[in-house]
Amino acid sequence: MIQTPHHKVIFDTDPGVDDAMALYFALAHPAIELVGITTTFGNVTVQQAASNALYLTALTGRQIPVTQGVAVPRHMAPHAPPDFIHGADGLGNLDSRVATGKQLDPRSSAQFIVDMARAQPGEITVVAVGPLGNLALALELEPRLPQLLREVVVMGGTIIEPGNVSPVAEANIWNEPHAADQVFTAGWKLTMVGLDVTHQVRVTLALVAQIAEHHQHAATDALLHAVEFYAKFYTGLYAHIAQEPGCFAHDVLAFIYLVQPELFTLESGVVRVATDGLALGQTMLNRRDFIDYPQTGWGQNLPVTQVCMQVDAARSVRLFQDVLLSDWLQTA
Ligand code: BDR
Ligand code: CA
Repeated sequence: MIQTPHHKVIFDTDPGVDDAMALYFALAHPAIELVGITTTFGNVTVQQAASNALYLTALTGRQIPVTQGVAVPRHMAPHAPPDFIHGADGLGNLDSRVATGKQLDPRSSAQFIVDMARAQPGEITVVAVGPLGNLALALELEPRLPQLLREVVVMGGTIIEPGNVSPVAEANIWNEPHAADQVFTAGWKLTMVGLDVTHQVRVTLALVAQIAEHHQHAATDALLHAVEFYAKFYTGLYAHIAQEPGCFAHDVLAFIYLVQPELFTLESGVVRVATDGLALGQTMLNRRDFIDYPQTGWGQNLPVTQVCMQVDAARSVRLFQDVLLSDWLQTA
């Protein structure tokens, strides 16, 4: 069905309902080999994020190393986790959890990324869908990381679409803006999948219910429970989502870009992040690099980011549907 190159991926995440959706897409897609899950604070505390990553993978019967990463931003006070969006447990307040007995990999998330990149130079892609502290720390541990990784895909930021935590800021970048600016200026092959495209793609609750109905499995039941909670938030906020309950396809779109980049229209340029003031967390793309801006920080020698500006929403949703309805789950 799907012809794409093989991708060895470290998934850097703060699960989080849409993170869970993305995780299951990655596990189900035949061209993605998940070699590790690194967690960060964001939608929940980092302890909860790590526990959710362990739980979600255990439900699928897969063995994937999970690490715990940064717990707070390094240069500012943390924002409170948005329990009204993802639930206090990050998964829509699950009624109960079966014990899995799974243990964390003892390394920090940053150390894990560095170790994997050094062991398999040029082979590993990082798909980062939470605040970017782990990647920033990994860069400090190993300055050659941009040469050692194959590429980095970030769900975060926005250029033209309004922000979702301030008029100009997207949540992942706003949670750790200093780290994000380090990541956007590091010099790796970097693609930003931000609200400009994620707000164009909706996953309906009906589709997730269809997936759960099809598999009759604890993993997809848990996903449906989480998405039911998450969809209530979006339904209360956006009239077009209220008409057909569901949510935006934020984090999964980073994986959809990885496997089907032809569904996206890109612009390239220097991206910088505002690290203080009213615009905290704003991602600014220099779309006019023929102008020699006088401010420090817009110089000629900064690395560029590919920014997703348009997406084929219908084909993205169809891909999500096909992949999640495929035969990817082991029977319990
Ligand atoms: C991003 O913020 C988080 O709440 C979601 O998981 C997603 O990564 C969307 O702005
Ligand atoms: Ca996320």
